[in-house]
Amino acid sequence: MKITILTGAGVSAESGLGTFRDAGGLWTQYDLNDVATPEGFARNPALVHDFYNARRANCAEASPNAAHEALAALAAGAHDVTLITQNIDDLHHRAGSPDVIHMHGELMRALCAQCDARWDAPLVMSPQDPCPACSAKATRPDVVWFGEIPYHMDAIAQAVATADLFVAIGTSAEVYPAAGLVELAQGQTLEINLEPSARANAFDAHRFGPATQVVPAWVAELR
Ligand code: OAD
Repeated sequence: MKITILTGAGVSAESGLGTFRDAGGLWTQYDLNDVATPEGFARNPALVHDFYNARRANCAEASPNAAHEALAALAAGAHDVTLITQNIDDLHHRAGSPDVIHMHGELMRALCAQCDARWDAPLVMSPQDPCPACSAKATRPDVVWFGEIPYHMDAIAQAVATADLFVAIGTSAEVYPAAGLVELAQGQTLEINLEPSARANAFDAHRFGPATQVVPAWVAELR
């Protein structure tokens, strides 16, 4: 069976990484216009780097949880699995999932806004860091901000449209285009989340509960 999976912050919540929109979430503590837009970065790059430096430090201390591990085990089995994530953490990769599609970029990668060079991000980035390729002091985290186009959209649309089963895990479905992917699915659709998402009605089936419990149970049934 061809299974295409989209994950969001809920899959990493039990690893200690904050979600965005839950009570106490990142967007209740920070204004996303300041730290997650190109305009915010142009106004105050040091603030934006501080925000992502803190995220990078949290991520480096965190470990993959049972949900990440179950998804890696699923990919190692007989099914043809494509894993798309909105998360910028590297926990799917560290759990052993191959070829994770990071539609919102990666915290552990850096990007030169001048020449588009990419490289492994140091733990702490600053506006003074020169690009290793062109030396411009225009380095930024290689993450997709509001107002920018998510990465790999053609491959993602294809993977969702051709799947026998599309599963969204741990996402509030508040951010497009990720939230609209379910509309492209031609096979069965399943939502796994703590609670019904904003697009819950678009899914054929639902399993509600903590990802570390629900995802391993679902994977065990499939394998
Ligand atoms: P959100 O914070 O919007 O939603 C997280 C979802 O996970 C919510 O629906 C929660 O109910 C659910 N959740 C929380 N804990 C959970 C758990 N232990 N098990 C299962 N589900 C749980 O995060 P995303 O939907 O990923 O983009 O946010 C989408 C995008 O908005 C992010 O990629 C980021 C953000 O702004 C950018 O910064 C561009």
